[in-house]
Amino acid sequence: MPQKSYGLLEGKKGIIFGPLDETSLGWQIALSAHREGAQLAISNVAIALRVGSPAKLAKQLGNAPLIACDVSNSEEIATCFEEAKANLGQLDFIVHSVGMSHNIRKGQPYENSRYDWFLKTLDVSGLSLHRLIHGALEANALADGASVVALSYVAAQRSFTTYSDMADAKALLESIGRSFGSRLGPKRIRVNTVSQGPTWTRAGGGIDDFDKMYEYADLLSPLGNPTAAECGDYVVTLLSDLTRMVTMQNLFHDGGFANMGMTIPLLHLIDEAAKTEDGLRNAGFPEEVIERIRNPRK
Ligand SMILES: NC(=O)c1ccc[n+]([C@@H]2O[C@H](COP(=O)([O-])OP(=O)(O)OC[C@H]3O[C@@H](n4cnc5c(N)ncnc54)[C@H](O)[C@@H]3O)[C@@H](O)[C@H]2O)c1
Repeated sequence: MPQKSYGLLEGKKGIIFGPLDETSLGWQIALSAHREGAQLAISNVAIALRVGSPAKLAKQLGNAPLIACDVSNSEEIATCFEEAKANLGQLDFIVHSVGMSHNIRKGQPYENSRYDWFLKTLDVSGLSLHRLIHGALEANALADGASVVALSYVAAQRSFTTYSDMADAKALLESIGRSFGSRLGPKRIRVNTVSQGPTWTRAGGGIDDFDKMYEYADLLSPLGNPTAAECGDYVVTLLSDLTRMVTMQNLFHDGGFANMGMTIPLLHLIDEAAKTEDGLRNAGFPEEVIERIRNPRK
């Protein structure tokens, strides 16, 4: 059943960076924001606007302006906010839904990260939040009382092996959220990050063993994994005036995953796998760990 509108964003204008196709978190945030009455602009890198389907989304949103912008390029950001302001006037919200790692895309192990790629990951996926907020303020494109939301992941706090250098980028992103949030209080501008559970998107699905990470999180979370549409519904609450006193937070939208330790069914699954050495080997445990499991220290 389609979600009903609460008119939470009536009269508000905003820009969303990162919708690529229908699976994108940014795409679903745009649909939720539109449903709640917001007037939107959509942005992505020029190549994504050409080969992806953001034009289809823009049409669905009542011909929203489509603005090409590489979030790691300060000149493009300056032009982007001039264009957004010319189309919409001052903005009431910015959504940063952007992430990219060449080290992950090309299967480079974290221990042997290429540093030129690592710097690009930090620049595009973390520092870009600073660039966007700075660019919006410089262009006088951000209204007092505005809300800025960026998408993060729990690997910023806890180690998830295959998330590689994106974990460091998310830690940077969340820190920039707090650093700017503390400085923008006098303008009543708030900055928060939303830590979304694993979701099948182009960026998400590109992570090694994502299917297994997805299943694990789904089994561990009391509510299961949240969908991209549910992420959209949560984010609009943070863009609305109802959350006007919330800032500098990293908010988990993950079905409860971040506060879980273990569940009995998962324990039993691991116990079953541990019953045979092949089970342990197939699960990828190193020989010395298998030995330790076979001969536990009492
Ligand atoms: N999918 C998940 O499991 C998950 C979980 C938690 C957080 N996130 C975060 O959500 C955000 C959106 O990712 P998604 O999962 O919807 O995947 P997605 O691939 O749909 O979106 C990522 C977007 O980043 C854009 N992008 C890449 N480089 C860019 C650049 N230089 N300038 C501007 N845009 C650029 C891509 O074109 C794409 O539209 C990311 O920050 C991601 O890390 C995703």
